[in-house]
Amino acid sequence: MQLHNFNSGPSILPPEVLTQAAAAIHNFNNTGLSILEIGHRTSWFVEVVQEAQQTVKRLMGLGDEYEVLFLQGGATMQFMQVPMNLLDENGIAAICDNGVWGNKAVKEASVFGKVQVVSDSSDKKYTYINKHIQLPENASYLHITTNNTVEGTQWHSYPQVNVPLIGDMSSDIFCRPTPFHEFDLIYAGAQKNMGAAGVTLVVVKKSILGKISRKIPSILNYQKHIEAGSLLNTPPVFSIYVSLLTLRWIEKEGGLAEMEKRNTEKANLLYNTIESLPAFYCPIAKEDRSIMNAVFFLTDPTKEQAFLDLCKKEGMIGVKGYRTVGGIRVSMYNALPLSSVQAFCILMKNFAATI
Ligand SMILES: Cc1ncc(COP(=O)(O)O)c(C=O)c1O
Repeated sequence: MQLHNFNSGPSILPPEVLTQAAAAIHNFNNTGLSILEIGHRTSWFVEVVQEAQQTVKRLMGLGDEYEVLFLQGGATMQFMQVPMNLLDENGIAAICDNGVWGNKAVKEASVFGKVQVVSDSSDKKYTYINKHIQLPENASYLHITTNNTVEGTQWHSYPQVNVPLIGDMSSDIFCRPTPFHEFDLIYAGAQKNMGAAGVTLVVVKKSILGKISRKIPSILNYQKHIEAGSLLNTPPVFSIYVSLLTLRWIEKEGGLAEMEKRNTEKANLLYNTIESLPAFYCPIAKEDRSIMNAVFFLTDPTKEQAFLDLCKKEGMIGVKGYRTVGGIRVSMYNALPLSSVQAFCILMKNFAATI
């Protein structure tokens, strides 16, 4: 049976990336060694890191004022590393709370200083993005989650502010052309559109660093990682290599414009199918719907388990909604083919016809 991988992360990777990664485990670049066996300070691996850094910058259209780092600890570590590096005792971390991940960013930042939630959509169970932001005068930065993986909402244009803008882009990085230059720090845990899991992408504008008095341990200090060329200590070598393979794949396929074309086609098909079938409904505000993660429900909740059982039987993987939200979540990252969404929509129609 053909499987369709709608996992929210780690999630589907392009088949050719898997083939190349598997080959490199046996023989990396004709060195006769496995990618798992080479030292991270060898010229072989330094070239991998540098090519990955350059490809990220090329895809993002960013210049030398930004640095690209491949760190560890996941996006969750960035919830604390961002305030640790950027928030001092006189400032306020302004954070938009439009979902569970933004909410976690609020909690972690409050360990380091003052935090103000500057927009919050919990009043409607996070089914929209609250874009009415009131920044406090001494905001050190504004933090947004560009795509709310759990709730299925996505910012489609970004707040214009006169303080550094920080974006948690874990679940929509590289999904479409994006004005990355509007951000001062971007981070993305893996893996969704880039990875394997185990590496965290951080892209930071150098001019925002070095402005606070707090002592920062080297391993958590962005500046130290920049000085070390993102090789401060043993990095997640394999995860970085697979990240490079996914970045090369995005470029080869036609870059972010092509990713947007494919992702929009998949998302339109799915959302239109939901709208066309009374058996399903999507509570997410239309203008805020995510093209990466679609969250929707059965109109009759007693039918949900039967629908999930059918999905399992037909090889539709990972479509059960997040535990706090329930319902159905279909993740449609870059590597997911249109044919998987087509197959899923046929299954929805067939199911709707039986109830
Ligand atoms: C938007 C967002 N932020 C943060 C996280 C947490 O990432 P990690 O598991 O890498 O810490 C996730 C995980 O899915 C996410 O989707």
